[in-house]
Amino acid sequence: MNPSITALRGFLDASHSVYHAIDHLEKTLSARGYVRVREQDSWDLTPGGAYYLIRGGCALIAFRVPRKHPQGFVMSASHCDRPCFKLKENFTLTGPYTRLGVERYGGMIMSTWLDRPLSLAGRVTVETDRGLETRLVDIDKDLLLIPSVAIHMNRQCNDGYKWNPAVDLLPLIGGKDAAGKLEKLLEEQAGGRILGHDLYLYIRQKSSVWGIDDEYISSAALDDLQCVWGCAQGFLQAEESSSAPVLCVFDSEEVGSCSVQGAGSTFLSNTLERICQAAGWDFQRMLAQSFLVSADNAHALHPNHPEYADGANAPVMGGGPVIKFNSNLSYCTDGLTGGLFRKVCAMADVPVQTYYNRGDLPGGSTLGRISLAQVSVPTVDIGLPQLAMHACFETAAVSDAIALEKAMAAYYSLTLRAGDHGWDLTENG
Ligand code: CO
Repeated sequence: MNPSITALRGFLDASHSVYHAIDHLEKTLSARGYVRVREQDSWDLTPGGAYYLIRGGCALIAFRVPRKHPQGFVMSASHCDRPCFKLKENFTLTGPYTRLGVERYGGMIMSTWLDRPLSLAGRVTVETDRGLETRLVDIDKDLLLIPSVAIHMNRQCNDGYKWNPAVDLLPLIGGKDAAGKLEKLLEEQAGGRILGHDLYLYIRQKSSVWGIDDEYISSAALDDLQCVWGCAQGFLQAEESSSAPVLCVFDSEEVGSCSVQGAGSTFLSNTLERICQAAGWDFQRMLAQSFLVSADNAHALHPNHPEYADGANAPVMGGGPVIKFNSNLSYCTDGLTGGLFRKVCAMADVPVQTYYNRGDLPGGSTLGRISLAQVSVPTVDIGLPQLAMHACFETAAVSDAIALEKAMAAYYSLTLRAGDHGWDLTENG
């Protein structure tokens, strides 16, 4: 197995919730000597230093301070959340069986969550002698299952059945005597009295590499952990240039990005300002020569349903990263920012593809346009081509994951200088 794919799978298999994804990234960064800074402290940054900060336990920004005064920031943003189910307060539903009350988080393909082992992960808030503390929790066993109704009782199950999340999607945890046992298990793991929780269902199936030539990878949350990892690896592998590299991982993209740690928050703008203050750089001048790659997975041409794709802009899995275009700005790419990413892919020697929604289909949007409201810099929307977006187990190509790392390493090694009509990419222009 390619070491990049082994590392990607390690990340995917460890990231059972947003908190666990950020925890894994934090471990990766601190193992490389990155120093944590905190928003409540004053920052003392040294040229050549590498830093990260975390907001809310579920969003992260990492950056490096170049040895010489940089021209601007080269940034990427991706998201660590996924559509899933969140455990409610007062979650025990009693009866002949015990079930859990859950609420939908984001828009998932509901049918994919049925008839497979599930568990719970996230964080709990516990009371301590000093106040409150959040702790990571992962019930690392097959714990729950959402059972289908047999075809003999639901003859429409193959005819476009409409799932009702309040009825059809409640997970089973045990028999009539199971009430109270989950609370006990959570308290044991957390090591204290629980005052609140942010716990999400996750599927127990680990990532898989498959296909006649092992060309595909399937996992939970490829949207968007595949881009999170590819951007992070590119960020870590890049060579020092005269631009300051910044890696952003946001939460809440699947529910509109408007949280304290989403792309709609001040997390990135505050951080860039703080970096400039601490390093003695002019914030506005830095912004004027900055660039953002908004990385979120894209729809690949479906093998059984090619009719959903735009004729000439229909990316396939294995064809390389995708630049996403939409003239109504669901995606931020324009001819200049798209051209820059195309050039980056050529420099990294990886293929690149383009995506448009089919003209009569609404399609999706992503965090790039939301981030722009806070940090207005030229932006390109990209992603890796995948199938079954928002199923609980999604599919993409192994080669594309490797290509994204290379492309992002090339991108993060750029020196960007804004000209009147374009960008100068040379170190000593
Ligand atoms: Co996404």
